[in-house]
Amino acid sequence: MVNFKEEIAKIISEHVEGLTLAEVENIVEVPQDTKMGDYAFPCFRLAKVLRKAPPMIAAEIAEKISGNPMFEKVEQVNAYVNMFISKKEFVKDVVDEVLAKGEEYGKTDVGGGKTVIVEFSSPNIAKPFHIGHIRSTVIGNSINKIYSAMGYNVVRINHLGDYGTQFGKMICAYRHWGNKEDVINEPIKTLLSYYTRFHVEVEEHPELDDEAREIFAKLERGEKEEVELWQWFRDESLKEFNRVYKMLGIEFDSYAGESFYSDKMPRIVEMLEEKGLLEESNGAQIVDLEPYGLTPALIKKSDGSSLYITRDIAAAVYRKEHYDFYKNIYVVASQQNLHFQQWIKIIELLGFDWAKDNIHVPFGLVSLEDGTMSTRHGRVVFLEDVLNRAVDQTREIIKEKGVNTDNVDETAKQVGIGAVIFQELSNNRIKDYVFSWDKVLDFNGETGPYVQYTYARAASILRNAGEDVCKAAEGEISPEYITGESAYELAKLIYALPQVICDAGERYEPSVLTRHIVDMAQSFNRFYHDEHILVDDEEEKAAKLALVKAAKTAIKNGLSLLGMEAPERM
Ligand code: ARG
Repeated sequence: MVNFKEEIAKIISEHVEGLTLAEVENIVEVPQDTKMGDYAFPCFRLAKVLRKAPPMIAAEIAEKISGNPMFEKVEQVNAYVNMFISKKEFVKDVVDEVLAKGEEYGKTDVGGGKTVIVEFSSPNIAKPFHIGHIRSTVIGNSINKIYSAMGYNVVRINHLGDYGTQFGKMICAYRHWGNKEDVINEPIKTLLSYYTRFHVEVEEHPELDDEAREIFAKLERGEKEEVELWQWFRDESLKEFNRVYKMLGIEFDSYAGESFYSDKMPRIVEMLEEKGLLEESNGAQIVDLEPYGLTPALIKKSDGSSLYITRDIAAAVYRKEHYDFYKNIYVVASQQNLHFQQWIKIIELLGFDWAKDNIHVPFGLVSLEDGTMSTRHGRVVFLEDVLNRAVDQTREIIKEKGVNTDNVDETAKQVGIGAVIFQELSNNRIKDYVFSWDKVLDFNGETGPYVQYTYARAASILRNAGEDVCKAAEGEISPEYITGESAYELAKLIYALPQVICDAGERYEPSVLTRHIVDMAQSFNRFYHDEHILVDDEEEKAAKLALVKAAKTAIKNGLSLLGMEAPERM
């Protein structure tokens, strides 16, 4: 695509002396107010070089470049040269570029192949995969896709919570009240019921706590029976998690969870000792972080068992050595802010200059309209149930509306699950939000179904146009037919997509992209409303269809970075 800023710099450079091309390009800016042009060139710097008043210089430049076909209009306003790009040039350039690139449109190579780790989802084994997990799972999936689109080599890690004292409790409970069949039939619900029962029974039989501790110690020592049970719980839980990942179309490169680091922790404890960072406190080993305004980090308990934070330190060191990451991104709830501040500080105190490359991407809470959830008391809403309900309700809506589809089930899946994903990514991630069924499935709001419906509308226009015209749309077009207000607006939004993707990535904020996709969809619908597309004039029709196709492509590419599908019929 034409890099307008660069081209403008070249044009201006031909007429000014004393500044290099790069310097000129640096000065070219995009005015806040579009009335001041698409690009502007302030002449203050030149005034120093040329010893002339800035408005005079601006007037001279404006006069010299105004004949260039790239511009529709060039104006001098005070010290500024305001340039309005020729709409014809612009829309043609955008459409050509999008149609040539197809699925690749939106991708850039700012990442230059550098390795970025995105750790996301990371649920706890043998615990419900509940609605709260949707956030890390869906936000993390989108961030990983956005980074891939930016040209990074992304490693997707699911840091499973598959280790810790709770497994002592779980095994203990299983041995007392467990039943193999039940676990196989419904692993997580069953294991959860054991866990819940443990917490009830321990009130009256505190000795259960000691038993559970002993079991966990055996697990840490690698004793066969305990390891086998643990492994079995892990496998059964993963089967359930994978059902949800499959529904969401999510994949990981690694499931190296907390247990993976169990044998890598002694080395970390040694390093901490060597640096003189460990202190004893009531028999436990801690790192004092008070000088940094943080509470102490508990590294090793008095009974010698290791902790969550120790595993995170070991994980970061392992990942640096194994992947040599440029960035190590963690999509984890803001409730864990302190935890991340602590361990990243410890990495820094260990003398690792890559401490700053560990990035915690926090997010707020999701709650349901009818109250929150608590694992301890077993009142919990499973993510799988939410997704199934979204699909079921969508199927009803589709039938009611008589939606045009040849596969109701497939469309209901794409739209229902897409709706949940889209709502999740519409909110600024740091804000808490309430999950609302009415909002999720509203086909007219700023929702997933609305965008997908718009996409299907574009697909249908192209289908109706027939193959010939679609082919014409891929050839040379006459851009004068797509410079009307709504067409131009749409082209500008499509043009901005690659930059928006980079912005979303740099801010770890998929909602920036979600917003832009809604803008493109609304803009497309305005264009569709304002203009008659399937006109008799072949040239005009081809140009308009080319823009339809470009918009369709841009919307699809955007949706795919959210982890959503785009149905051709709806
Ligand atoms: N398993 C944890 C939980 O469910 C989240 C893990 C976050 N990642 C990490 N590296 N600490 O709360």
